[in-house]
Amino acid sequence: MLHTNVVLSACLLCSLFLQISAQLTVTPNHPDLHGEFLAIKKQQHETLQLLTTLQQTVTALQTQVKAVSVKTFILDSNERVRTNAIDVLYNKTFETEKVLTSLEVQTQQLKEQLELNRNETSAHEATLQEITRTGIVTHETQNKQIALSQERVAVTMCVAVDGDRHSRQIIKFDEIRFHIGIINFSAIRSSGVFTTEKPGLYHISAVINGRKANAQFSIHVNGNTLSTLRMSSDEFIATGTSVVVAELQIGDVITVTADSTFQVYTHWSCMTIVKID
Ligand SMILES: *[C@@H]1O[C@H](CO)[C@@H](O)[C@H](O)[C@H]1NC(C)=O
Ligand SMILES: *[C@@H]1O[C@H](CO)[C@@H](O)[C@H](O)[C@H]1NC(C)=O
Ligand SMILES: *[C@@H]1O[C@H](CO)[C@@H](O)[C@H](O)[C@H]1NC(C)=O
Repeated sequence: MLHTNVVLSACLLCSLFLQISAQLTVTPNHPDLHGEFLAIKKQQHETLQLLTTLQQTVTALQTQVKAVSVKTFILDSNERVRTNAIDVLYNKTFETEKVLTSLEVQTQQLKEQLELNRNETSAHEATLQEITRTGIVTHETQNKQIALSQERVAVTMCVAVDGDRHSRQIIKFDEIRFHIGIINFSAIRSSGVFTTEKPGLYHISAVINGRKANAQFSIHVNGNTLSTLRMSSDEFIATGTSVVVAELQIGDVITVTADSTFQVYTHWSCMTIVKID
């Protein structure tokens, strides 16, 4: 708006100047020189006045222009300040966004950590419960074992079939003659060996009646030899008795094997097991 004013004022000045120039142009063939002179003087005066006015106008315009430029400068600076402020705001917003994103990431990480902790806690709880349960079960098992160990066990089991037994062959005692505290009879009848059902200290004796020179047999616990006995050195019928004692746990298996090939007779060939404690 101010700028337009300045341009308009400048144009007004141009037109005035053209007008004055035209008036100052003297016509040489004028008859009344004095009148002309007076007229010219008057015109000169008027022109002077006009010039003064013009000068004033110019000064005023200059002042205006200065004011405008100052205002323009101020406006420009304001604009710059504003632009700068917008930049700063933009940067602040940008930075805030960055901080927010970082916070979101951290929050997410914390959430995951929390979930992991929860899972671990529940896993630990499960483990604890399992340990407690196992503890209870172990305790019950121990109680049962103590109860079992206090029970009596005694069995005399004998060979049911005559015949040759070969080296390393188990001599089966599959006929039960006497028993106390035996739980599973069919196990003895089918296998001819003794499987410990109650833990404790056991007295074990094996009496084998047979025939063959150098007939020999052994008593084993879980395959480990506890004793070996040679029954005879000649071909006559002989009886050998082997006696051992052993601390047995539930599931321990007592077997008697032939260490050479010889004939075993029923009736007098038996194993007697007694729990003594
Ligand atoms: C805005 O950030 C940019 C890039 O980080 C930087 O160059 C500019 O100077 C910053 N502006 C302000 C006003 O802080
Ligand atoms: C936590 O356990 C749940 C359910 O078992 C599973 O879906 C999730 O992935 C686990 N979280 C972590 C962090 O392991
Ligand atoms: C008795 O022993 C046999 C052979 O070892 C086994 O198959 C069976 O399950 C046992 N019976 C009982 C009641 O424990």
